[in-house]
Parts: sequence; C-alpha cells; structure tokens
Amino acid sequence: MKYARYVVLWLLFLGLGPFLTGKLWARPSKCEECHAKITPGIVKQFQRSKMYKTLTCASCHGKSHQSEADVDKAKLPTIETCKRCHAKQAKQYMSGKHFLGWVAMEAMPTIHMQPDPVTKGRKGCGGCHSLGATKEAKASKYYPRYAMDCQNCHTRHTFSVKEAREPEACMTCHMGFDHPQWEMWSTSKHGAAYQIDRLLGIPIEERRGPRCQTCHMPNGDHRVMTAWGFLGLRVPEDDQEWWQWRVSILKALHVLTPDGKFTDRINVVKAGKVARLTKEEWQAERQRMEKICHQCHNMNFVKEQLHQADMMLRAADQVMAEAIEIVADLARKGIIKHPDGNPYPDLLRFYDTPYEIEQKLYMMFMEYRMRAFQGAFHMNPDYSHWYGWAEMKKTLAEIKELAREMEERHAAK
Ligand code: HEC
Ligand code: HEC
Ligand code: HEC
Ligand code: HEC
Ligand code: HEC
Ligand code: HEC
Ligand code: HEC
Ligand code: HEC
Repeated sequence: MKYARYVVLWLLFLGLGPFLTGKLWARPSKCEECHAKITPGIVKQFQRSKMYKTLTCASCHGKSHQSEADVDKAKLPTIETCKRCHAKQAKQYMSGKHFLGWVAMEAMPTIHMQPDPVTKGRKGCGGCHSLGATKEAKASKYYPRYAMDCQNCHTRHTFSVKEAREPEACMTCHMGFDHPQWEMWSTSKHGAAYQIDRLLGIPIEERRGPRCQTCHMPNGDHRVMTAWGFLGLRVPEDDQEWWQWRVSILKALHVLTPDGKFTDRINVVKAGKVARLTKEEWQAERQRMEKICHQCHNMNFVKEQLHQADMMLRAADQVMAEAIEIVADLARKGIIKHPDGNPYPDLLRFYDTPYEIEQKLYMMFMEYRMRAFQGAFHMNPDYSHWYGWAEMKKTLAEIKELAREMEERHAAK
C-alpha cells in the first residue's frame, strides 16, 4: 500500500479541484446547455479556450442568473475576476499605461461635449479607451457597459495566448489618424521580416523581425510604457533651445500659463502618466528598450537609431512651436478671441474650435507631428518623412498665409 497516500491525494484533488478552480458543475453545465441554443457562438468559442478544461460559464459570470427571466443578474467580469487566478498579469497590467486609458481620455476638456455614441456607445473615443475600469471609471455616466480590459488582446471567449502574441491583437486601436503604429510597423523592415517568416511557416519564436509585443511586452510583461509616450513631451529638458520650443507647446496644451507657470492640468499629466516627469524615469524606460533592440543589433547601432528618432522629434517641435506662436500672436492682436482670454489655443480641444487656422494647428499637432516621431521610432521613413515632416512644413506655410490674410482683413475693418 505504498501508493495509498497518492491515491488519496488524487481523489482529494479530483474532488476539490473543480471547486478550487471555479468549476462548479459537471459538463455540459446548465449554462452551456441553454446558451448552446441562445448564443451558440459563445459556447463554441469557450470550448476552444484552454480554460474550458477547468472553468464553466459561472466561474466568471456567477450563478445568480439561471434563465431567460433573470438575465439582469448575470455578472459581467472585471479585472478582479481574472485576478483571482492570474494575479501576476493583472498586477503588471494595472501598473502600466493601458490601465490609465480612461483617466487620460476623460481628462480631455471637450470629452463631455461628445455625443453618447462616441463615449459609452464605443463608436469613438470610448471604443479604444475603456481601459482601467476602476470603480470611479465605471461610475461615470460615459463609461460603456460592456468593456473588459483583458479581452482587448485575448478576445472573448477563447482567451488565447497565441492570439495575443500576434501583432494583429494591437492593430484595432494602434492604427489610423494619430497613432498609426500598425501601419508603420507592418510596412517597416521589422514588419516585413516578421510577416515573411510567418508566411513561410516559421514558428513564432524563430521569426526574425520583432513584433509589437517583442518590444513592448518583453517576457510577457503586461505593463506597457514608453519613454516619450504619446505626446512626446518630457519635463525637464537639458537642451535649452528645445526646451523653449516645448514651452510653446506646453502653453498650447494649457499645461503652462502664458507666463510660464504650471496650471492644474499638470495634475492630470501626473495622474494619467501622460509624460515622464523626471530624467530618471525617462532614462529607465529608454534603457529597457535599448536592451530589447540589443538582442538583434549592436549597441552603437541601437543608440544611433534611437538618437536620430529623438532628433526627429526635436525638429518637429521647432516647426510646431513656430506655428503655435503665429496663432497666439493673432489672439494677442485681438484677431482671434478665446473665451478664457488666454492667447494660446487649447490643443486638447482637438477639432472643437471655430477657427480654420486652429484646425490646421490641430492637424499639425495630432497627425503630422505624431507621424514624424512615431514613424522614426518604428523604423518607417515614409511615415516619418512624407506623412509627418513634409506635411508639417506644408501646413506651416498654409498657417503663415492664413495669418497674413486674417491680419489684412482685420486691418481693413
Ligand atoms: C434557460 C436558459 C439559460 C440558462 C440556463 C442560462 N442562461 Fe444566460 N442568458 C439566457 C438568455 C435568454 C440571455 C439573454 C440573451 C440574449 O438576449 O441574446 C442570457 C444572457 C446571459 C449573459 C449576458 C448578460 C448581460 O448582461 O448581457 C450572460 C453573461 C449569461 N447569460 C451567462 C449565463 C451563465 C453564467 C449561466 C449559468 C449560471 C447562464 N447564463 C444560464 C439564457 C440562459
Ligand atoms: C474566463 C471568464 C469567462 C468565462 C468562463 C465565460 N465568460 Fe462570458 N464573458 C467574459 C468576459 C470578459 C465578457 C465581456 C464582458 C464585458 O465586455 O464587460 C463576457 C461576456 C459575455 C456575454 C455578453 C457579451 C456578448 O458577447 O454577448 C455573454 C452572453 C457571455 N459572456 C456568456 C458566457 C457563456 C454562455 C459562457 C460559458 C459558455 C461564458 N460566458 C463564459 C468572460 C467569461
Ligand atoms: C478560476 C480561475 C480562473 C479565472 C477566474 C480565470 N482564469 Fe484564465 N486560466 C485559468 C487556468 C487554470 C488556465 C490554464 C489552462 C491551461 O493551461 O490548461 C488559464 C489560462 C488562461 C489564459 C492562457 C490561455 C492559453 O491560450 O494558453 C488566458 C489568456 C487567460 N486564462 C485569461 C483569463 C482572463 C482574461 C480571465 C478573466 C476574464 C481569466 N482568465 C479568468 C484559470 C482562471
Ligand atoms: C482607434 C482607437 C482610439 C480612438 C477612437 C481614440 N483613441 Fe485616444 N488613444 C488611442 C491609443 C492607441 C493611444 C496611445 C497612442 C500612443 O501612445 O501612441 C491613445 C492616446 C490618447 C491620449 C494620450 C494618453 C496619454 O496618456 O498619453 C489621449 C488623451 C486620448 N487618446 C484621448 C482620446 C480622445 C479624447 C478620443 C476621442 C475624441 C480618442 N482618444 C479616440 C486609441 C484611440
Ligand atoms: C495589450 C495586450 C494584452 C492585454 C490587454 C492583456 N494581455 Fe495577457 N497576454 C498578452 C500577451 C502578448 C501574452 C503572451 C506573452 C508571452 O509572449 O508569453 C499574454 C499572456 C497572458 C497569459 C498567459 C501567461 C502564460 O505564461 O501562459 C495570461 C494568463 C494572461 N495573459 C492574462 C491576462 C489578463 C488576466 C489580462 C487582464 C488583466 C490580460 N492578460 C491582458 C497580451 C495582453
Ligand atoms: C482596446 C484598444 C487597445 C489595444 C487592443 C491595445 N492598446 Fe495599447 N494603448 C491603447 C490606449 C487607449 C493607450 C493609451 C493609454 C493611456 O492613455 O494611458 C495605449 C497605450 C499603449 C502604450 C503606451 C504608450 C505610452 O504612452 O508610453 C503601448 C506601448 C501600447 N499601448 C502597446 C500596445 C501593444 C503592444 C498592444 C498589443 C499587444 C496594444 N497596445 C493593444 C489602446 C489599446
Ligand atoms: C523594434 C521594436 C518595436 C516594435 C516592433 C514596435 N515598437 Fe512601438 N515603440 C518602439 C520604440 C523604440 C518607441 C519609442 C520609445 C521611446 O519613447 O523611447 C515606441 C513607441 C511606441 C508607442 C508610443 C508612441 C510612439 O509611437 O512613439 C506606442 C503606442 C507603440 N510604440 C506601439 C507599438 C505597436 C502597437 C506596435 C506594433 C504594431 C509597435 N509599437 C511595434 C519600438 C517598437
Ligand atoms: C528580434 C530581433 C530584432 C529586434 C529586437 C530589433 N530588430 Fe531591428 N531589425 C531586425 C531585422 C531582422 C531587421 C531587417 C534586417 C535588415 O534590414 O537587413 C531589422 C532592421 C532594422 C532597421 C532597418 C535598417 C537596416 O539596417 O536595414 C533599423 C533602423 C532597426 N532594425 C532598428 C532597431 C531598433 C532601434 C530596435 C529596438 C527599438 C530594433 N531594431 C529591434 C531585427 C530586430
């Protein structure tokens, strides 16, 4: 009876296992039986999930809802639901930038002017930004009802790792107008090398080109964060010339007052981690990235490439600052009027401005400046140059021309 001990342990495991892992009923569960008729697609997708072995529908949705009559009682899972069994990924995720997606979006001054479909209807901002469903976020009347973070890369109900590892998992949000990382990556040398190896049937670990996850989720780390971030604005800055240009940009974001003092918006920047606010913080993220590139390139090459991308941002900031000051001058002369009396336009109002010249400025900031530096960091000279830098220069010329016309019209009045 040498093995009796093990037999008892096995029996205990088989008996308790389902309770420990949340499987409450035999298969198929009552939920599955009924839902195979009501929503067969969901049941099939879940059957493909690795979790199907040990979980049932009730593990995530609770068991209060049992029939057509009490559908309201079904719970919709949150990060806390997954955290019970995946604490590591949940904690990493919650310490990264994705978890702040809602905070950053709701801090925009014109968000409350957007129609419901754009926010809680998920047909605009809310379709990509309902990330970080904290209690406070969920309490907002703008928060979508169906919005669960983890399924953004592991879509329901398959919840697959293989799917999340492919760059297409990021594509739906990181594309388009102001952050076309998908377009930039997929048409870069990195994207080409990756996609060709995938077409050739080479296993994922052996494909030569890096994918989004290689650089932004190394070793499966669910905390995403970069040095420059979306806006490419670090504070402080040693390069004095560059700092002066950035001051103009920060004034146009109303993070600085016209005479250069921090406004309340700096608290939003802090809360949403919108910019790195110490040199050390910036440097730590940069070094993390350099190590990743170093797996496939030598360090001199890496530093040179990233430095040139930083310099692309610097060049873009010079043009941006010049354009901002032209528009601010019009306001100082009374040709443009802002309700708050601040001569600087508010770039965070995006397209909600009545002036054509400010619409152009918004395009320059959100589309062209973004492409100029994001393209540089994603090894895409076409995006960086033609869709970024070239458009900035073209728009600057247009802004100068418009400003001249506005001044002439004003003088003739
Ligand atoms: C007798 C049939 C039946 C059974 C049993 C059943 N459901 Fe449902 N469930 C429904 C119907 C009907 C709906 C509404 C579907 C629709 O409108 O398309 C629904 C909706 C849901 C929803 C969506 C809720 C929402 O707010 O959108 C979830 C989640 C759900 N069921 C989970 C479960 C779970 C978990 C179980 C088992 C504990 C279960 N169901 C058992 C019939 C059933
Ligand atoms: C591992 C957790 C998990 C399990 C197990 C699970 N679900 Fe879900 N389910 C989710 C998540 C996450 C959502 C999305 C919630 C949101 O967007 O707020 C969801 C949403 C739903 C919805 C509403 C959205 C839609 O597409 O209609 C229904 C219905 C549903 N689940 C039914 C089921 C059924 C039936 C089963 C069992 C076959 C099941 N779920 C098993 C996590 C789970
Ligand atoms: C009751 C525990 C439990 C809960 C709750 C739970 N999981 Fe899991 N999950 C597991 C187990 C166990 C596995 C491992 C299955 C295996 O490898 O056989 C797993 C595996 C996974 C995997 C890897 C699948 C693969 O393809 O290798 C993902 C992704 C995942 N879960 C996501 C989620 C998400 C998202 C939620 C919340 C909506 C969630 N899980 C809730 C227990 C749970
Ligand atoms: C297609 C999906 C999508 C839509 C729609 C969208 N965003 Fe975003 N947004 C993103 C992504 C992805 C990022 C991060 C991009 C980056 O870092 O390059 C982002 C970044 C931001 C940031 C900067 C966050 C930070 O902390 O750096 C703000 C603020 C923001 N979005 C607000 C909005 C608002 C307001 C709307 C609607 C008017 C909106 N977004 C619409 C996907 C979207
Ligand atoms: C931005 C995309 C993204 C989001 C959002 C995301 N994951 Fe993942 N997840 C991944 C990737 C990529 C991997 C594969 C990492 C690797 O290469 O090993 C992964 C792997 C996993 C695994 C498998 C780990 C293993 O070692 O097998 C689990 C479990 C998991 N995620 C759970 C979650 C949970 C829980 C959430 C929500 C808190 C979540 N994920 C949100 C992209 C994501
Ligand atoms: C549901 C939409 C969505 C998906 C899918 C998504 N992201 Fe994001 N991502 C966002 C939003 C929104 C932000 C900005 C978050 C904020 O404002 O804090 C963001 C921010 C980021 C950032 C941080 C940029 C910074 O400010 O430093 C990185 C890096 C990132 N995502 C990478 C990825 C990768 C890699 C994937 C795929 C594995 C992915 N994302 C999938 C919406 C998404
Ligand atoms: C070869 C590595 C690499 C790959 C692959 C890669 N990125 Fe990046 N990504 C970077 C670098 C480098 C930066 C800038 C980091 C910094 O600020 O120092 C960056 C920045 C970002 C940012 C912040 C804004 C910006 O564009 O500068 C987001 C968001 C992002 N990447 C998402 C993605 C997504 C989504 C993919 C896949 C479609 C992807 N990245 C592929 C290296 C990579
Ligand atoms: C997983 C390996 C891998 C990683 C990680 C990686 N690269 Fe690459 N890189 C490649 C491959 C493969 C090519 C295509 C080879 C070629 O162009 O001859 C390439 C090409 C390039 C090119 C195109 C220029 C040239 O010489 O053809 C640049 C620039 C570059 N990488 C920079 C970077 C930077 C910067 C990072 C980090 C942010 C990085 N790479 C991370 C594999 C990688």
